[in-house]
Order: sequence, then structure tokens, then C-alpha cells
Amino acid sequence: MDTLKNKVAVITGGASGIGLASAKLFAAEGAQVVVTGRRAEAVEAAVAQIGPAALGLVGDVADIGHHKAVAQAVRERFGGLDVYMANAGVNTIMPSPEVTEAEYDAQFAVNARGVFFGVQKIEPLLRDGGAILLTGSIASQKALHGHAAYAGSKAALEAFARVWALELKDRGVRVNVLSPGPTDTAILGKLGVGPEQRDAFEAGMAERIPLGRLARPEELARAALFLVSDAGSFITGVNLAVDGGMTML
Ligand SMILES: NC(=O)c1ccc[n+]([C@@H]2O[C@H](COP(=O)([O-])OP(=O)(O)OC[C@H]3O[C@@H](n4cnc5c(N)ncnc54)[C@H](OP(=O)(O)O)[C@@H]3O)[C@@H](O)[C@H]2O)c1
Repeated sequence: MDTLKNKVAVITGGASGIGLASAKLFAAEGAQVVVTGRRAEAVEAAVAQIGPAALGLVGDVADIGHHKAVAQAVRERFGGLDVYMANAGVNTIMPSPEVTEAEYDAQFAVNARGVFFGVQKIEPLLRDGGAILLTGSIASQKALHGHAAYAGSKAALEAFARVWALELKDRGVRVNVLSPGPTDTAILGKLGVGPEQRDAFEAGMAERIPLGRLARPEELARAALFLVSDAGSFITGVNLAVDGGMTML
């Protein structure tokens, strides 16, 4: 219950799915948690679920001004932070010939650029011994139809993490990537998996995932806690797939 006692954690895209599950777990483990998201009502609802230790900040990770505002708010409210989880992400699946410039740019603006500048703006506030965790995707390791732009944007995170792990080592700040496999979150609906396709989608995925089902967001949250806490104290620069074995097939 005290794994993150006296720690401050910031989680982008923390109003739903993996980010929200991580925020709840980090708070339950004693952290003061800041969640960011682009929809005010979703951020408000998340804060109400996480509890009194939570702070919500609204903004778009594609906007560098938002990252500056988050850093300022964290400085004013807490003086610094211990954990930064860059988790906000978007995914559209389509064959490469159909990807427009706007679609390509939108994915890179959120998934890669948003992470880069989020870390750049918050990193001076990270306390020695802190941790940065980037939510990637198994799409950067495994060839998946229609995922080229998304996979490329997520592959950048692995490269960022390796360089940052080196740049921040003297402060004891560890930097890792957590790569989910298919996980039961709102992102599935955003990809167009409606209630009527849901059973067929899950059955199709179950065949491709050795553990035979989608991940639950709480399972990703537990892996996130492991990577950002002292349990992962000698782990830096890695990309951990939490995917029920899907990447190995
Ligand atoms: N679920 C999966 O199967 C899966 C697999 C591999 C990787 N991932 C990655 O896991 C991360 C979390 O996704 P999830 O599955 O938990 O889905 P999710 O519930 O849709 O969470 C993504 C969060 O990011 C927020 N977000 C998106 N664009 C943003 C922006 N420009 N500025 C600020 N916030 C933004 C979303 O807010 P809105 O709701 O307002 O859009 C949402 O709260 C993402 O990086 C995703 O790529 C998920």
C-alpha cells in the first residue's frame, strides 16, 4: 500500500483506460497523482474516482504550451515530481496507401512529439531517483496490418527512452517503455469496434494471444507500478511487452 508513499506522479491521458488504472493504483500505493487529458469532464470524473490526492489538468499533449503549463502547475503545487508516465496516445488503423498527411501528422503529434516535449518540459522537475515511463505498443515490435503510421510513432518512444536513460543516469532517473498488447479500453471503441463486433473481435484476438484473451487495464497498471517503483530499481532503457505473449508469435 506504500510503494509510492510521498511520491508525486504525473500521468498523461490519465482520464481513461491504462492511464486511469495506473493513476488509481499509484494513488492506492500512496502517491499524489496528477492526471492530464483533453476532455475536462473526463478529467473531472477521473479525479473523483482516484480520490482526494488527485489533481486534474486539461490540455492537449500535441500542444507544447500545455506541457509548460503542466510543469508550472507541478512546480507550484508540489515543488517537483518523482514519476512521469507519458501515456496519452491515439491510433487509427488503415492501409498505408490510405494514410493522409493529416492522419500521419496527427498520430506523430500525439504519440511521438507529445511525448518528446512532455518529457523535455517536465524533466528539470524530476527528483533524483525518479522514473519516466512511456506507453508504447507491441505494434512497434510486431508487424500488424494497417499499423504503419501508428507503429512508427510508437517506435520513436523506444529510441527516446534509450537516449534519455543515458542522459538522466547521473541523477538516478530511470526511463523505460511499457508496450501493451490488445487491452480492453476505450481505444477499441475509438478504433471502430462497436458492441456488435465485440465478441468476434475478442475471439479473433484470443486466437492470436497465447494467454487467450485481451489484457485488462489493471494488468498494465501493475506492470507500470513495477517499472516506476523501487521494485524496478535496476531496470532502465527497456521496452517491456505486456501482451499475453502476442509479440512472440
Ligand atoms: N488498448 C490497447 O489495446 C493498446 C495497445 C497498445 C498500446 N496502447 C497505448 O496505451 C495508451 C493508453 O491507451 P488506452 O488503451 O488506455 O486507451 P484510451 O482509454 O483511449 O486512453 C488514451 C488516453 O489518451 C488521451 N489522449 C489522446 N489524445 C490526447 C491528446 N492529444 N492530448 C491529451 N490526451 C490525449 C485520451 O483522451 P480522449 O479520451 O479525450 O481521447 C485517453 O484518455 C495509448 O498510448 C495507446 O496507444 C493501447
